[in-house]
Amino acid sequence: MTAVEIKNLYFKYDKEWILEDINFSLKDKEFMAIIGPNGGGKTTLLKILLGFLTPNKGEIKLYGKTPKENRKIIGYVPQHTNFSLDLPITVFDIVLQGRLKKGKFFYNQKDKQKAKETLEYLKIDNLQNKKIKDLSGGQRQKVLIARSLVSEPKILMMDEPTSAIDPTGQKEILDLIENFEVTRIVVSHDIKILLRDVDKIAYIHKKAVIHEGPKLNIPKDRHFCEVELIDFLKDESCGI
Ligand SMILES: Nc1ncnc2c1ncn2[C@@H]1O[C@H](COP(=O)(O)OP(=O)(O)OP(=O)(O)O)[C@@H](O)[C@H]1O
Ligand SMILES: [Mg+2]
Repeated sequence: MTAVEIKNLYFKYDKEWILEDINFSLKDKEFMAIIGPNGGGKTTLLKILLGFLTPNKGEIKLYGKTPKENRKIIGYVPQHTNFSLDLPITVFDIVLQGRLKKGKFFYNQKDKQKAKETLEYLKIDNLQNKKIKDLSGGQRQKVLIARSLVSEPKILMMDEPTSAIDPTGQKEILDLIENFEVTRIVVSHDIKILLRDVDKIAYIHKKAVIHEGPKLNIPKDRHFCEVELIDFLKDESCGI
């Protein structure tokens, strides 16, 4: 089943094209990493996929529907949070917000149970009664990830999910994403994402170059870092 399909997509905020002729598709439960330079258009592409921005040309389908029609099936972790972190709101309440849907203004027992399970799954249930303003950057990031998972999304989109996280936490988050079997699109500047079991890699710099994920078959218990990756790929070039 096709989960994501983008054809001949173009986008500009003002006069200059930010994205040009983007084409790719993902099957159900595939995992795509998006890499590329600052200002390349990665966050813009995610916002288009979420239906927050409308492309100037081209077509996008998420499980056969437009992004706006299907926004409710997406769990999203933004690069920069836009809600005020000074509010005296607890971690549990922020995670519960992920269960809100259009036309639904209260939470039931199932919502609360799911929020509790998700906090346990991410091993942050000890933080549930803390105020979000009192957390560290990495802890906040995990709370936002919990909020994106709690709605049981069919598509998970994350923009730099490991950027504020310590190395142990980064590994935990990447493990979690790898094992969370839904369709996943994850933007990262951390090259270690390429060592993961990704199906596709999009390098986005106005245009997109799509690579199949390298099937490296790295044994889970073996050390394999960027240094070895570069060595492994020494003579390979994608031609860009
Ligand atoms: N709201 C906006 N209005 C006008 N231009 C914008 C707006 N948001 C982003 N841009 C421009 O669009 C381009 C792509 O920005 P975008 O945030 O998508 O890049 P990115 O690949 O996510 O970068 P980074 O790695 O730094 O997060 C940049 O040149 C940026 O200045
Ligand atoms: Mg960005």
